[in-house]
Amino acid sequence: MKDSQYNFGMIGLGTMGRNLVNNMASHGFAVAGFDKDPAKVAALKNEAGGNVYGAQSLHDFVSAIARPRTIMLLVPAGQPVDDVVAELKPLLNEEDLIMDCGNSHFIDTDRRIKELVRNKFHFMGVGISGGEEGARKGPSIMPGGNKKVFDRVGPMLAAIAAKVNNEPCTTYLGQGSAGHYVKMVHNGIEYALMQLIAETYQLLKEYGGFTNGELHNAFDGWNKGPLKSFLVEITAEIFTKKDELTSNYLVDMIQDSAGQKGTGIWTSQSALDLQVPVPSIDAAVTARVISANKEQRLKGGALKGPGITSATDKEALLNNLGQALQFSMLIAYAQGMALLQKASAAYNYGYSLSEVAKIWRGGCIIRAEALELIMEAYNQQPGLANLMFGNKVAPILVETQQGARLIIKTAVENGIAAPAMMAGLAYYDGYRKDWLPSNLIQAQRDYFGAHTYKRTDRDGIFHTEWNKN
Ligand code: 6PG
Repeated sequence: MKDSQYNFGMIGLGTMGRNLVNNMASHGFAVAGFDKDPAKVAALKNEAGGNVYGAQSLHDFVSAIARPRTIMLLVPAGQPVDDVVAELKPLLNEEDLIMDCGNSHFIDTDRRIKELVRNKFHFMGVGISGGEEGARKGPSIMPGGNKKVFDRVGPMLAAIAAKVNNEPCTTYLGQGSAGHYVKMVHNGIEYALMQLIAETYQLLKEYGGFTNGELHNAFDGWNKGPLKSFLVEITAEIFTKKDELTSNYLVDMIQDSAGQKGTGIWTSQSALDLQVPVPSIDAAVTARVISANKEQRLKGGALKGPGITSATDKEALLNNLGQALQFSMLIAYAQGMALLQKASAAYNYGYSLSEVAKIWRGGCIIRAEALELIMEAYNQQPGLANLMFGNKVAPILVETQQGARLIIKTAVENGIAAPAMMAGLAYYDGYRKDWLPSNLIQAQRDYFGAHTYKRTDRDGIFHTEWNKN
């Protein structure tokens, strides 16, 4: 048993958890770690430099942490978090803090905060993005909860977070589940960006006839311009990786069925609840589901449509796709930011959208050059109704929509589904129009259900007996 000398505790010593502990230790923090799997505790002991302790039991772990304790959790979302909290509770003292650093659903986080406050403990929801490497070298950290309690851990989070221009990619985001909500939307945007890249890949590969070498060059080239981002960068690298079991490229040996753990779906669900359109994210979630329905897709042969032709001008295709990608990625960020804006008011989070963009510039999966522009847009106009309307954003969209339209036309003509690109353009065109055909929907609703309508020429609520002369 160790004395109560460790500043922090970490439960969940998978690769992410261990890397985070090592990150903390290399910044001078003393950290105790625990995992139910003794092999993971042993792995921590082997890897760790600095002042790190691998505890053999939960009791031993809790006793090793200085009071008031700060215990971080990196366990799978859902029941495992409740199970760990239930086991911890009898061992805690007043003012102890549990920080859930996993991808928990924000509603669970609010429930847990309430439950633990009743016992005079504290609970914070902290989103962490950056994968295994980010955890070790500096992730983007999205904390929310009681501000006074946050102040206990803020300096540690700032120390271990990624830095952009020496500024940490973390900030206090707001009360309650504010941090986990931002992380959920981060993941929703992540889904959309990944789907957009996948659609671009399909067009380049199937219509453009690009080899993996050419695909590498395309994404590598894009990563040197306004599309510069973590996801574009790793995509370029993926096309260079050879399979160890065959002589093929690895990407060609991977089944075309995407998995998902739920955060994208939650983003779409929450957006529907708050009535915020996020069609690019919805399309990305749906595309993963369709991809996973491989058995059904194999039965779709009877559904005839256009076949895929070959691009005559590969250079033009590349240019148009670059525009289409820039356009639709910006639209995906715009939808995510609009959702945060609405959630901020609905759940009293009090977000600063420029701060959110700021802490997403480094460490996280959606980090991108474009976030500088997004941060600036909300800095200049904090109340901006939609990112698309930003002084510097709108002209980029106006320019790049040309490419998006050409690419979507090409996709349609070749029978290639490009759902996230199409959804993004429809979103843009929807917001561009001062007239939409919804007067007809109101007429239909009034016709069959006497739901009433408003008129264009006078105030009031009207109903018509449509089928009477
Ligand atoms: C991150 C990632 C991370 C994880 C997601 C992926 O920000 O580091 O988003 O949280 O990769 O859980 O989720 P899916 O399994 O749903 O794709």
